[in-house]
Amino acid sequence: MTLRAPVLGLEASCDETAAAVLAPDGRILAEVVLSQTAEHARFGGVVPEIAARAHLTHLPGLARQVLAEAGVAPHELGGVAATSGPGLIGGLIVAASFGKGLALAHGLPFVAVNHLEGHALTATLPGAVTSPVAFPYLLLLLSGGHCQCVAVEGVGQYRRLGTTLDDAVGEAFDKAAKLLGLPWPGGPALEQLAKAGDPRRFALPRPLLGRAGCDFSWSGLKTAVAHQVAKLGTLTEQDRADLAAGFQAAVAVTLADRARHAAAMLPGATALVVAGGVAANQAVRAALAGACALPLVAPPLRLCTDNAVMIAWAGIERLRRGLADPLDHAPRPRWPLDEMRAT
Ligand code: KG4
Ligand code: ZN
Repeated sequence: MTLRAPVLGLEASCDETAAAVLAPDGRILAEVVLSQTAEHARFGGVVPEIAARAHLTHLPGLARQVLAEAGVAPHELGGVAATSGPGLIGGLIVAASFGKGLALAHGLPFVAVNHLEGHALTATLPGAVTSPVAFPYLLLLLSGGHCQCVAVEGVGQYRRLGTTLDDAVGEAFDKAAKLLGLPWPGGPALEQLAKAGDPRRFALPRPLLGRAGCDFSWSGLKTAVAHQVAKLGTLTEQDRADLAAGFQAAVAVTLADRARHAAAMLPGATALVVAGGVAANQAVRAALAGACALPLVAPPLRLCTDNAVMIAWAGIERLRRGLADPLDHAPRPRWPLDEMRAT
């Protein structure tokens, strides 16, 4: 199907409310992301009810804003793409219902986008990376809510090669950071603290290192940090820095090992693509860059973390293939990528 008009993307599956308008060729006409970090920080994590209410308050205004910036009236759109899973059900209902309402009012096709497909296809968005990545490639999704490795073989064609057995890697950074007295979300602060630390001082575990496949497990590493903190009693500034460096090094080494295994599981892969907030971590990036023979591709951070550009792009790819969804499509809090349709 030829798509001639821009597509509106809507994202509200976790704690970012976002909207974007993309031209059919993927050019970004307007985009906005509103982070709720400040609203959740004093609770030390995302509070679903607060997130849902904030999405409801902000999403309509953000959609109006990007349409105005793009100079596109709702009836001129070629479709509306809204994140419909996986994620927190309150936000999914807000994005999907708002998207369906707009589609119904203006007679537009609606696409229920899988958030993970949005992350997976970002590397194929023209202009997102130096040269768009060709299928098949490996995706390492390293965020606060997800930790998985996916073989991306085409639009709608995904095979999950490995996933976490317990925490997401960003969650592990946040928990380790909390043990070291850092505020949520602690990943960036832990990276900062680690700069002054000795990664070799504490012998921390490298979970699943060398184990077949590319599953992940982080809870044992976090518990090891907790034990060291308890053993030390009062922590000096150097203790905190050494623990942060040790934790970060253990994560980086483990991720590199998992990536090596993943590369062996998809012999024709063209690249190793990283996405999610943890992809911002320089030690992680350096370890992944040297993990295997594949080039490491990291979209700019604003497209690595949650955003609506990736949702609009996934919507465009689906509309081009005639893959619109019915207006009674129910949002799915759990929606594995393997269950996507390709035709
Ligand atoms: O993809 P993302 O922005 O959002 C969701 O998970 O929804 O990822 C956020 C996660 C948080 O756990 C945060 O602590 C972690 O990514 N993170 C980092 C860094 N920047 C963000 N972890 C380690 N090092 C960083 N520089
Ligand atoms: Zn995400």
